[in-house]
Amino acid sequence: MEQPIGIFDSGVGGTSIWKEIRRLLPCEHTLYLADSKNAPYGEKSKEEILQLSIKNTELLLSKNCKVIVVACNTATTNAISYLRDNYQVPFIGIEPAIKPAALRTKTGKVGILATKGTLSSGLFHNTAKLHAAGITILEQEGTGLVSLIESGKLRSKEMELLLRQYLDPMLADDIDCLVLGCTHYPYLIPKIKELLPDHIQIIDSGEAVARQTKNVLAKERKLRTSAIPPGKNQFYTNTKVGVLDTMLGKGNYAVDYLNF
Ligand code: DGL
Repeated sequence: MEQPIGIFDSGVGGTSIWKEIRRLLPCEHTLYLADSKNAPYGEKSKEEILQLSIKNTELLLSKNCKVIVVACNTATTNAISYLRDNYQVPFIGIEPAIKPAALRTKTGKVGILATKGTLSSGLFHNTAKLHAAGITILEQEGTGLVSLIESGKLRSKEMELLLRQYLDPMLADDIDCLVLGCTHYPYLIPKIKELLPDHIQIIDSGEAVARQTKNVLAKERKLRTSAIPPGKNQFYTNTKVGVLDTMLGKGNYAVDYLNF
């Protein structure tokens, strides 16, 4: 089916999910919205996150998307049930990978780095209760991380200080798994690896979301099977295109400004 897969995030972070989708489904057309003007979502109220998610969904639907990937833990945990109840199109969301972490931990202690909006959501707590009974979950809000990533300061001194501040207490508490509960954070993995001992596993949900997207499209008989012409990938941001373009490998893809 020629319609694109629609993907949205509060900004550039959801491209970590887009990359997994692209790898698994190279024939598909994709359309990505980076709502960077409104980032970070994680500091907003549930109602604001819901309204922004509705705005992004309606724009993707107006562009004829066949499925919508909510490539944002904060938007998924606060808005996906409303979206599913109110729109016909299938939605795929992303939640912190608590279940795989609970299965892998040997110390019984799992750290989770996520936004305030995700950690305070009912959906996150239900998932944790369901899949991590008997496991200690050390929750840490990543305040400030998304804003630094959005301004392209991935390898800055400020970033290092914040990461140390957030990771050190979890290390002292003997975690052996760290769940990245925000789609911006996979871009921090090289830096996080420098700060953590080797035995700590870093877990995120990107690949699982790509697999789920493929399953949903297959079930709905909406996969694009032909590779001719090749899958087109269009990115829109409502701020300057620079950071998004850099994350995608400067000039590799169509990255345009759109007022939304
Ligand atoms: N990428 C979003 C997430 O996964 C970041 C949220 C934010 O903008 O604070 O939660």
